[in-house]
Amino acid sequence: MTSPTSVNVADLREVARRRLDPVLDSYFAGGAGDERTLRDNEAAFDAYRILPRVLRGVGTRDLRTKLFGETISMPVLVSPTAFHRLAHPDGEAGCARATAAADTIMVVSMAATTAIETIAAAAAEADRPPRLWFQLYPQPDLAFTESVVRRAEAAGCGALVVTVDSPVFGRRERDLRHGFLDLPDGLCCENMRDPETGGIRSIVMDAGLDWSRIEWLRQITRLPIVLKGILHPADAALAARHGADAVLVSNHGGRQLDGVPASIDALGAVVDAVGGQLPVLLDGGIRRGTDALTALALGAVAVGVGRPVVWGLAAAGEAGVRQVLELLRADLDRAMALAGAGSPAELTPDLIRPVVRR
Ligand code: FNR
Repeated sequence: MTSPTSVNVADLREVARRRLDPVLDSYFAGGAGDERTLRDNEAAFDAYRILPRVLRGVGTRDLRTKLFGETISMPVLVSPTAFHRLAHPDGEAGCARATAAADTIMVVSMAATTAIETIAAAAAEADRPPRLWFQLYPQPDLAFTESVVRRAEAAGCGALVVTVDSPVFGRRERDLRHGFLDLPDGLCCENMRDPETGGIRSIVMDAGLDWSRIEWLRQITRLPIVLKGILHPADAALAARHGADAVLVSNHGGRQLDGVPASIDALGAVVDAVGGQLPVLLDGGIRRGTDALTALALGAVAVGVGRPVVWGLAAAGEAGVRQVLELLRADLDRAMALAGAGSPAELTPDLIRPVVRR
């Protein structure tokens, strides 16, 4: 088990720091450029305050949330993060078991160090319906991209999360400084296995990607398509027109273009632009129930967590991921009670105010 003193995500982050090789810790924690956006993702929540309602009879609270017709136990899901087996031998399979036990969604990274079929089998061990979504970096080779989509479908994934904020790799200077460029021997991106040769392909960031590829994906699969990495309201509006089923407001945890707004600061304009046509999700900087509450009240239907899950994994494998998810669930539940909301639907924008500074 993790240390009994881990009462929040920040505590688990410290346990992870002690357990991880510093080069790997830096890979997981770091961002692009000067890490302005990375810092801002967390710091921006400090500019919002919650104006609670009272006497609302919140004795029975229900955190359940519906996405694409499926009900999950809370509006918190696991955002896709690469290379889980670098954090802990339990890897993606442990993360999938923990996420299934928490009855929420794990978005499996295309850069997972475990094959999607193995992750799906692990998730199915929990006595609840596993819910996996698959994160895709569309590859310039359409036939290969389609083969990956077919694997995700066959493994039972419930949605495709297409990452659109990465026409090229972000410049992560911590990794450059450490010379962290590749996976060690014995680990590889199992979902990049070529169906013909059996070899592992490198993930290519396709700078040519445009809306026509989203339409192509829409043609080849019936899975709901979530566009991950939307920040501009004009792109949110285009997402609806090009067949996307949801948008995920995200700046890739500050790992792509440095200097973009914190996710929470970009949310409102995106919510307004989609005007209820599509569900809006958010990730970036969620560390507490009050962060999740703020995003939900400002219009997100669910929030994702990236680094907190990696830190849980590094701290204590599957049990650590479980701990992170249950800490966030309890924290959100308490924050909702204290704000006078019995369900996520009762979290409305009037509960959030900008901070007043004197
Ligand atoms: C990521 N993220 C990411 N996103 C994606 O679409 N595909 C990927 O393979 C990865 N890999 C990845 C690795 C690591 C180590 C991190 C920290 C992040 C981005 C991720 O999905 C998410 O957008 C952010 O992590 C959310 O911010 P927080 O919760 O880490 O603050």
